Amino acid sequence: MRRGKLETRKAARLVPLLLNWFAANARDLPWRRTLDPYAIWVSEIMLQQTQVKTVIPYYERWMRELPTIETLANASSHKIHKLWEGLGYYTRVRNMQRAAHTIAVEHGGQFPTSFEDVLALPGIGRYTAGAVCSIAFNAPTPILDGNVIRVLTRVFGIRANVREKNANAALWALADTLVTAASRSSRSLAKISSALSGPCSALNQALMELGAVVCTPRAPRCEVCPLRRQCVARRENCAEQLPNAGKRVAATARRFIAVLVERNGEVLIRQRGEGVVNAHLWEFPNVEVPLGAASQQVQSAVEKELGCRAGTLTALGTIRHTITRYRIALEIFRVELNGESPRPGCGIWKSAPAIEALPLTSAHGRMARKWMASGSSSSS
Ligand code: ADE
Repeated sequence: MRRGKLETRKAARLVPLLLNWFAANARDLPWRRTLDPYAIWVSEIMLQQTQVKTVIPYYERWMRELPTIETLANASSHKIHKLWEGLGYYTRVRNMQRAAHTIAVEHGGQFPTSFEDVLALPGIGRYTAGAVCSIAFNAPTPILDGNVIRVLTRVFGIRANVREKNANAALWALADTLVTAASRSSRSLAKISSALSGPCSALNQALMELGAVVCTPRAPRCEVCPLRRQCVARRENCAEQLPNAGKRVAATARRFIAVLVERNGEVLIRQRGEGVVNAHLWEFPNVEVPLGAASQQVQSAVEKELGCRAGTLTALGTIRHTITRYRIALEIFRVELNGESPRPGCGIWKSAPAIEALPLTSAHGRMARKWMASGSSSSS
């Protein structure tokens, strides 16, 4: 029998196991109490690159403040950035507002129901369109994210590099086979998932859930897995080696110097421009320096950035974070200007409460909290 046919048979056997398991084990998450496609879309965008426990308060606040597509379309840029502050990857939130405008103009304010129309919205790719359509409308649209890839490569024993085109296409095909089998599941089985929107919704969420809570990257809990008898990786004792993601590119270290310049109880702060990472968000003046820069070089780089002479820098600490493939050290220094004025354009003066109200990049938000905790002008 051809490999495809074998996999179809196996997929059909997995469906009832997954649906029964999900009915008994699904976590009660706020976006699982609704079938509103807008709410499900919001949750799916937030959940990209972010853990469930981090997303929950953001999701709840967002849905309180912007409960409909219309409220999102009409919200200020400041408001959406503030609601997103800390989640990172801010293009996501700007795309959501662009999509809300498209929905208002092209779909009369109603969230589109066809997969093609959903996929055509800004910021929505194949995964998100599949997730929204299956969860909100019970459409048989497959999904493939990191959790699902882990479950499928292990259960089916797929050893190919999942970053390669053919392996990725094969995984999408498997995810499609599974959700199609779910759509054809018997009435009694479909009933199990009727508390949610239906078997396609439940099947896709079961795959994600299994990957999140049982089929984990390290130390998977195979003994409680509903697919343990079908799992090739368990049989061959290689679960932790899958998925095969090829060789990772090493992260590049970068060093930034950020400065706290205070004057009359206010601090210098600036807004990032268009078309850069973290566009539109606010940050303290900062400059990149070579990893091994000596203190004199750091001092000159800061003076060049501020456009004036500065007193000796006082180190306040370092914030370490990672953006895409960069491992960044953001070193914070307090700077006295001794009466000199920074060049126009290098920032504006704001008080601590005003800074708290601004959407800051996540590293500079941490820096602001450090500053305020250490006795900024407002808290002293
Ligand atoms: N990760 C991505 N989508 C999710 C969802 N709907 N529930 C839980 N985790 C998820």
